[in-house]
Amino acid sequence: MGVQKILFILGFLLLLRGGDSQEKTFSSGTSFHSSPHITDFSSMRKLSPVTGNERRRSTLGSLLTVVNVKDFGARGDGLSDDTKAFTAAWKAACSSSAHVTMLVPERKAYLLKPIAFSGPCKSPVTVAIKGTILASGRISDWDGADRRLWMLFKEVDGLRVEGGGTIDGNGQVWWKVSCKVDSAQPCKGAPTALTFKSCRGLTVNDLRFKNSQQMHVTFSKSANVRISRLTISAPGNSPNTDGIHVTGSTDVKISDSFIRTGDDCISIVSGSSSITATNIVCGPGHGISIGSLGANGAEHTVSDVLVDTARLEGTTNGVRIKTWQGGKGYARNIIFRNIVMDNVRNPIIIDQNYCDSSKPCSEQKSAVAVSGVTYKNVTGTSATAVAMDFDCSRTVPCRGITLQDVHLVTASGASAESFCRNVNLSKSGTVVPSTCSS
Ligand SMILES: *[C@@H]1O[C@H](CO)[C@@H](O)[C@H](O)[C@H]1NC(C)=O
Ligand SMILES: *[C@@H]1O[C@H](CO)[C@@H](O)[C@H](O)[C@H]1NC(C)=O
Repeated sequence: MGVQKILFILGFLLLLRGGDSQEKTFSSGTSFHSSPHITDFSSMRKLSPVTGNERRRSTLGSLLTVVNVKDFGARGDGLSDDTKAFTAAWKAACSSSAHVTMLVPERKAYLLKPIAFSGPCKSPVTVAIKGTILASGRISDWDGADRRLWMLFKEVDGLRVEGGGTIDGNGQVWWKVSCKVDSAQPCKGAPTALTFKSCRGLTVNDLRFKNSQQMHVTFSKSANVRISRLTISAPGNSPNTDGIHVTGSTDVKISDSFIRTGDDCISIVSGSSSITATNIVCGPGHGISIGSLGANGAEHTVSDVLVDTARLEGTTNGVRIKTWQGGKGYARNIIFRNIVMDNVRNPIIIDQNYCDSSKPCSEQKSAVAVSGVTYKNVTGTSATAVAMDFDCSRTVPCRGITLQDVHLVTASGASAESFCRNVNLSKSGTVVPSTCSS
């Protein structure tokens, strides 16, 4: 047995012993979420005159640097429910006084029901997912829980999630009952596999996601987020399985990722600004989307988005901005550059008449304003005759749309077309197909 492991077990025994005497420390704290039997060693140090014994304890507490879910009873056999063990491991990790790694060991599959990992934590936490985390395949496990969430990290600052492991949403059972697949079913939605909500200074690296119930990973109300080396895959016909979804977040950088799913590769929606996606491969799926924005008259804003170096393969859209009639707000200052399209339907598209509803959407007076959009160095093949589609609103036309060095032909080699409504385009360099004016 390694020294670290012995120290760990001692630390754990102390945790269990800590007990009610320390509870006061927590209830007096403002927002520290913790169960009563987790002991805060740093405050223990402050509270008591240090005896030899206490010193050893506090030293042990600060040495709680690795929390292995296995030591909290997780079986990892792919069948047993490991939710309680993960919850207990998270509590220990989140209340450690030292920078701590919560370890999910390799070559195991840990089955989890809906689970929340809430902060704030005492110290920075790294979650090292080396094995597989598998979602429960029983929809009834969501009874009484939020049906839109499977794993949730909430209000954890300085969090890292990494490790090279796999997050498997086991989504097939949900896809079957999706109203998009079976119109006799009610449209109730399904969980996002991994959701980060209100996390600042977040890093998510080196993970595989597959077959999510609905979206794969969502960043909500978060800031200073670095995401890289994700591999996301689900069948091209799986319903609403967006790859990376960004909402209400700012300063988010996504890079070096492969995303092959049944819906948007990356979707960026309301309240998001300063979002960068670099070196991304998409397809199958619906392409890289800003929106949809302005549904049901909502005021939505997205600004300062850069998509730089992407390859889209066989997607149903390339780079898309989609807004509903009747909304308010804006999508502005958006750059798509260094993009290769390979047999993509609608490679370049702005759709201000977006309508993803069973009823037709009638024209309305207001619209989400689209302005300052640049397409630079966008090349390759279109699966549709119309390679550039600017379908802007009559009441709020698109403004400041610029094309530079765009070269798109149809996949069969024939020349492609452009479509324009309520937009004036400016162009520089070579632009093929030639732009239309409205
Ligand atoms: C255009 O984009 C492609 C694909 O990202 C890249 O390989 C190429 O270097 C870019 N060309 C220029 C002139 O930047
Ligand atoms: C396009 O430019 C022409 C000429 O300046 C102008 O009359 C027209 O209103 C503009 N259309 C849009 C949609 O901005």
